[in-house]
Amino acid sequence: MPAKIDSLGNWRRTHYSKDIKPSEEGKEATVFGWVSGIRNQGGIVFIIITDKDGVAQITVHKNKISKEVLSRVESLSDHASIAVKGKIKAMDKAPNGAEIIPDGVKVLALPQKTPPFTLYAKTLPSIDKRFEIRAVDLRRPEALAIFRIREKALETIRGFLKDHGYYEVNTPKIIATATEGGAALFPLLYYDKEAFLTQSPQLFKEQLVMPFEKVFEIAPAYRAEQSRTLHHLSEFLSIDVEEAFVDYKDIMNTIEKMIAKLHASISKECNKELETLGTKVPSIEKIPRMTYDAILELLKGKDAQVEWGDDLTSELLDKIAEELPSYYFVIDWPTKSKPFYIKPSSNPEISESFDLMHGSLEIASGGTRLSSKKELINRLKEKGLKPKGFEYHLAVFDYGMPPHAGFGLGFERLLMVLTNQKNIREVSVFPRDQFRLTP
Ligand code: 4AD
Ligand code: MG
Repeated sequence: MPAKIDSLGNWRRTHYSKDIKPSEEGKEATVFGWVSGIRNQGGIVFIIITDKDGVAQITVHKNKISKEVLSRVESLSDHASIAVKGKIKAMDKAPNGAEIIPDGVKVLALPQKTPPFTLYAKTLPSIDKRFEIRAVDLRRPEALAIFRIREKALETIRGFLKDHGYYEVNTPKIIATATEGGAALFPLLYYDKEAFLTQSPQLFKEQLVMPFEKVFEIAPAYRAEQSRTLHHLSEFLSIDVEEAFVDYKDIMNTIEKMIAKLHASISKECNKELETLGTKVPSIEKIPRMTYDAILELLKGKDAQVEWGDDLTSELLDKIAEELPSYYFVIDWPTKSKPFYIKPSSNPEISESFDLMHGSLEIASGGTRLSSKKELINRLKEKGLKPKGFEYHLAVFDYGMPPHAGFGLGFERLLMVLTNQKNIREVSVFPRDQFRLTP
């Protein structure tokens, strides 16, 4: 006999799972969720349901319940969507110390297929297999833990920036010219003109220090990355900050405080999630600053082949990470290795720039910006870019652009660190890469 599907009718939630606790003993509750575990122990069936906040235990005493409710209980399997009405009872061994003794159950949806992975499996099918049904994959406790941490991290960073007086802005994602060099742009048709998806809000945020002084934006950025790595997405969440009347050292101080605050709040408020992921978030106070030159010395001490001016390849970064496994800044990069808007220092070969690293992973880049139009035009030419293409940007520099500095941070990369993930795709709900455009 096919199992019966009930309608929602007039049942509405009275409690979330987190509210099923000993202090509510004796109260009537209606809870909703999906079945994430069933255990049949002779005369008792334990059903675990998961809702947006966590899990609750439904304890069914077979001989104390109507045949009708029992037949519904017996039709359940993992992922079934259900509603339960019953009484809350304190119970030491249950999640949050209480369970629900049901007198009514509604079956709202039953799975028609079994996913190619179980919720608590230690070994999983390939990421591509799981991502075909990503929303179901996201029901695994590890995935839920990652996204609860993601949410908390975003809230903490936004709160930190607001508390420090930054304005939140939103800038266009459809743009006319490249900001970070031409290679990795996605072109698109904008009416009858060629346009691009933005790689970074860099130029907009610089302009916005004129009216707002301190700005930040949290928004997607797009890069047509040609290689498939474990730390590149085609669409990532960029946390961008720009500030007038400061230089790159002040900006690094701000990042240091932000990372310290982030680590403190995740380790305090995401205990359960970190435990589910089998990881810890250490407390951070100071982030060491290493000059590019000092990094080259370190590399030479490890027999690496590297010349002054070279970029730090992934092989070199792996060697550095052996000595510096946590956060560190690489500062004072060769001017020629940085974009046109970065300010050279008193020695023009070296720039007022930094990368925030964690082991071999680049988390953020930033620096002091050029605020003189003349110098910007020179740097554009040196980089082989046409100043004419940037006229719309350079125009405002005629009206008293203050000195300013800032950074752009890859939020998913930071989350990889916090949640101890090796593949950036695990920290994005629907990742985009060279080979993935669905779901
Ligand atoms: O280092 P990037 O290219 O710097 C900028 O966009 C500058 N406008 C920042 C600035 O204010 N000077 O990008 C910033 C960060 C990187 O450090 C990295 O963490 C992240 O964005 N990122 C990516 N994350 C995931 N997938 C990709 N394809 C990424 N490309 C950059
Ligand atoms: Mg960078």
